[in-house]
Amino acid sequence: MPVAEQTWGSPAKASFLASSVGRKIVMAVTGVVLSAFVTVHMLGNLQAYMGAHAMNTYAKFLHEAVHGGGVWIARAVLLVTVLLHGWAAISLTLSNWSARPQGYRAQQLEAATWSSRTMRYTGVILACFIVYHLLHLTTGQAHPDFVVGDAYGNFVRGFQRPLTSAFYILAQLCLGFHLWHGVWSFTQTFGWSHPRYNFARKAIATVLAVLVAGVNISFPISVLLGVIR
Ligand code: HEM
Repeated sequence: MPVAEQTWGSPAKASFLASSVGRKIVMAVTGVVLSAFVTVHMLGNLQAYMGAHAMNTYAKFLHEAVHGGGVWIARAVLLVTVLLHGWAAISLTLSNWSARPQGYRAQQLEAATWSSRTMRYTGVILACFIVYHLLHLTTGQAHPDFVVGDAYGNFVRGFQRPLTSAFYILAQLCLGFHLWHGVWSFTQTFGWSHPRYNFARKAIATVLAVLVAGVNISFPISVLLGVIR
């Protein structure tokens, strides 16, 4: 059957998703989308430094864009992207475990995959963070002083609680590490692993990870120090 006629249910599609290369491509493409989201989200949250009016106007704009449909389109795209990313991660991990050899060679592989195992831990912490974060700053069930429509007030009152701020800071450290290794990995999946490009790959991964995690960590710290109040 010509490629153009193949459908989602076709053997070619099934073998693409069943192959580890196919699942790595799914992981890489969804990783690019999620990296872009956390970067744009971090830039948007910088409005907090400009005060209540700026941040609440920005939040209102996001909720009302495309007659209120924009936020739902973004939510749907993000949900599908996160689910695909998690599915690819879990299924690649299970395939690796079932193919894992025993003995000395297994120990060598253990060392080689330290980074990817850390990705699993930071990935799980980030998944928990996302659920908590939505209940905290979007729907309010995990926020004792939540006020609908007051993004700035919810942000400030939320981070005035040291335990909440501590969890956000821990999650952002995980995000920084996950982003760093993620950018390094997806550039490898896209075939840019070459001595000529490796310095640029490392530099981009480091700048993005430090910037996103650093700025995000500055929010709870600024509230606790009274810089944002
Ligand atoms: C310190 C870091 C962060 C701060 C201060 C922050 C702040 C906020 C705020 C204030 C909202 C609510 C906006 C509104 O309802 O008007 C929000 C929503 C959201 N945030 Fe964050 N965020 C942070 C990190 C993250 C991270 C790391 C992720 C993803 C990994 C993330 C994902 C989301 C999502 C998906 C929404 C929901 C958007 C929606 O459906 O309405 N956030 N965030």
